[in-house]
Amino acid sequence: MATIKDVAELAGVSIATVSRMINQNGYVSKQAEQRIMDAMERLEYEPLIFRRLADRSMPTIALILPDITNPFFSELARAVEDICQQRGYTVFFCNSDNRDFKEKSYLEALRKRRIDGIIYASNYLTQEELNKLRRDNIPVVVLDRSSDTEKCTLIRCNNYEGAQLAVKHLLDIGCKKIAHIYGPQEIVTAQERLNGYEDYVKSFSWYTPSLMAPGHFQLEGGMQAVETLLLRHPDIDGIFAGNDFMAIGALKALHRKGVKVPEDIAVCGFDGIKLAEMIEPELTTVAQPIYEMGEKAARTLVQQIEARDTKFDAEVIEINVSLNIRDSTRRDSE
Ligand code: RIB
Repeated sequence: MATIKDVAELAGVSIATVSRMINQNGYVSKQAEQRIMDAMERLEYEPLIFRRLADRSMPTIALILPDITNPFFSELARAVEDICQQRGYTVFFCNSDNRDFKEKSYLEALRKRRIDGIIYASNYLTQEELNKLRRDNIPVVVLDRSSDTEKCTLIRCNNYEGAQLAVKHLLDIGCKKIAHIYGPQEIVTAQERLNGYEDYVKSFSWYTPSLMAPGHFQLEGGMQAVETLLLRHPDIDGIFAGNDFMAIGALKALHRKGVKVPEDIAVCGFDGIKLAEMIEPELTTVAQPIYEMGEKAARTLVQQIEARDTKFDAEVIEINVSLNIRDSTRRDSE
């Protein structure tokens, strides 16, 4: 059986680099990562943790996430783990870094090891992959970002209505020209929030598509988007960001520019991560029911695992968001 040393030699990297990639604890370049993946495939190397999965005595589910560095996903993982542990299941966390080849590689390894079930909270689940899992009788529940597969239970929040809640709130506090920082448009949650914003404001005389700028769902993206938006429209007085990370980046950029929040520009985010109330000013946000979503996904998957022979109708379970009003939009009149 190939060892980590063999993989390192074939990939032309150090053993430490291979270990960092397997354990996701440190930087590995994309090129090195691809060479390591190729070497693992050629040598049919499987990290010890995957071999342990074959131990049928411990029922195990996998949670596939796109970005474990974003608190939204770690808070989601918290809920999934709590419920699974209550029900006697071990949770195997798979972080894909938004890369489809990593998701495919995880799915292959999990299928080989006959994982008991999968909660898919990422982007790249294809119908082909789903069919393979179905053939292996492995239940899948999709969480948050619906993929274009059919016949899968999906738990999500009402992104479109949540975006409109944010815009209405900014208008209610007196904003006269509202910009939007949007997430990657290949991700359905980002698309739905942009659509919610645009459908609400497109009838206003001040609206133009140049009031929207990309933030890539990242903090740095939020900072960059503020630079872009203020160059295009120095007169904006409200910003709705499609997630809290981008909103926090926007607050940082506005602070650096000496722009007062909310007096000059009010800022509203989306997600409801705990970090939103730890920053100054505290961030108003459209809060997703993160824990409830993770809990519902875990309970649904365990139910499908334990009633494996039952035919479950795919359903969409949409849980409502709520508006948490904090200092980033609280103006004197409030
Ligand atoms: O912040 C990460 C975003 O990606 C969240 O809004 C969540 O809905 C996911 O789609």
